[in-house]
Amino acid sequence: MPKNSKILVCDDDETLCYLLKEQLLEEGFSVDTVYDGSFAIDAIKKKNYDALLLDLNMKDVSGEEVLKFTSDYNSTIQVIILTAQSEIRKAIECIKLGAYDFITKPYNFDDLVLTINRALEHKELLVKNTVLSNQVAKRSVGTRIVGVSPELQKVMNLAHKSAMTDSSILIEGETGTGKELFAELIHKYSSRNDKPFVVINCASLPDQLIESELFGHEKGAFTDAKSTKQGLVEIAHGGTLFLDEIGELSLSLQPKLLRFLENGEYRRIGGVTNLTSNVRVIGATNRNLLEEADNKNFRRDLLFRLNVITLTIPALRERKEDVLVLARYFLETKSPVRSPKKLSEEAEYALMNYDYPGNIRELEHVIERAIIFAEGDIITADDLSLPTNAGRTIPKVIELIADEDGILSMDEIEKRHIAKALTYYRWDRSQTASQLGISPKTLYTKIKKYQIKQ
Ligand SMILES: Nc1ncnc2c1ncn2[C@@H]1O[C@H](COP(=O)(O)OP(=O)(O)OP(=O)(O)O)[C@@H](O)[C@H]1O
Ligand SMILES: [Mg+2]
Repeated sequence: MPKNSKILVCDDDETLCYLLKEQLLEEGFSVDTVYDGSFAIDAIKKKNYDALLLDLNMKDVSGEEVLKFTSDYNSTIQVIILTAQSEIRKAIECIKLGAYDFITKPYNFDDLVLTINRALEHKELLVKNTVLSNQVAKRSVGTRIVGVSPELQKVMNLAHKSAMTDSSILIEGETGTGKELFAELIHKYSSRNDKPFVVINCASLPDQLIESELFGHEKGAFTDAKSTKQGLVEIAHGGTLFLDEIGELSLSLQPKLLRFLENGEYRRIGGVTNLTSNVRVIGATNRNLLEEADNKNFRRDLLFRLNVITLTIPALRERKEDVLVLARYFLETKSPVRSPKKLSEEAEYALMNYDYPGNIRELEHVIERAIIFAEGDIITADDLSLPTNAGRTIPKVIELIADEDGILSMDEIEKRHIAKALTYYRWDRSQTASQLGISPKTLYTKIKKYQIKQ
């Protein structure tokens, strides 16, 4: 998350505002505070905030009024309600009115920061979606898949062939293998390429929001829902809808997506009529959905609707021929100067002998870092700062089973294992979750539960 995100805190409790401001500044956010709704409205008119922490009970202008104003005036501001335990019902009403989430007072600061970060991620996605739907043609021009290995060529061929069809497609692959890039490529080579390519990440939104994001809601669907909101299926009409991390879609929403895949029909929340939209759906996952179906976490009928065509993108360690080709490509494209730096022989050797648990995204970051750190024109093995144990050997946690106080509880072992894994993968949550074999949502819950800090 951009650490300098702008946050407005609005609460009539001045001490709380002061404390929150101190804590949030320490987290690297930029923070303003106001003590009444009317001042919040003034502030929002003057500055483009990313998030608003909003108390409900204030003297002059209430939190609900500020929320309504914000939804109308600048709906990209993510509103998090600060509420007393006794007022949860009111807070839920606010979610229906467009607030992102609520936190009960007295708040747990770590929970609050997690919620703020999720809200900011959500905002970024919304903005990205809008940009994507407006600028799809421009973006697509830049889509380039680099690689010479027969494994990659095979997937490329299949992607080109499937682009010609209208079938749903499931893209499988570990984190960072290029699933989203392939989805863009398919869109680019399809007859839908002059229509929107719209992305939604099923893991980064709270359940209650996904349905409204996907299918929209009618005016009046909730108390005071002032305007009708188009769903992404509607916005993507004629184009492609990319459902990232589709394995995370809740069981309650899966039947609605299934129905949409079967006949293009859907209903906005609160709507009474069936609407239709013509969209090609591409789903992506780093989980084994067949296994998820066996475990009853994913509907088998939905899986079979979705994987009419399945593209499995191999991990980078399974196609080593691509490593240096990609490394040189990133050297050229990421280099700030005309003549890119070159790799020394040892650097090439080190790159070839690394396993890339984070796949191409990891290689991309390694090269970006090396470009900055290498002093001369040649990048040495040291400049790459690859993890010393070169991938295959993950640090062991066996020695953690007991400490000076005796045998550790299962919770303590889990907590330490997760903390170590997060450090190892530099707090890349999606990669850590994937390597631990749990969903990003479960990882979030556990970080919260154990209060693991970066
Ligand atoms: N074959 C490739 N050629 C060039 N760039 C690539 C290739 N594959 C992946 N990349 C780059 O690697 C990064 C990760 O790709 P992408 O986001 O598509 O992966 P992903 O599989 O969707 O990852 P995640 O599961 O974490 O969402 C992107 O910056 C993408 O441009
Ligand atoms: Mg992705």
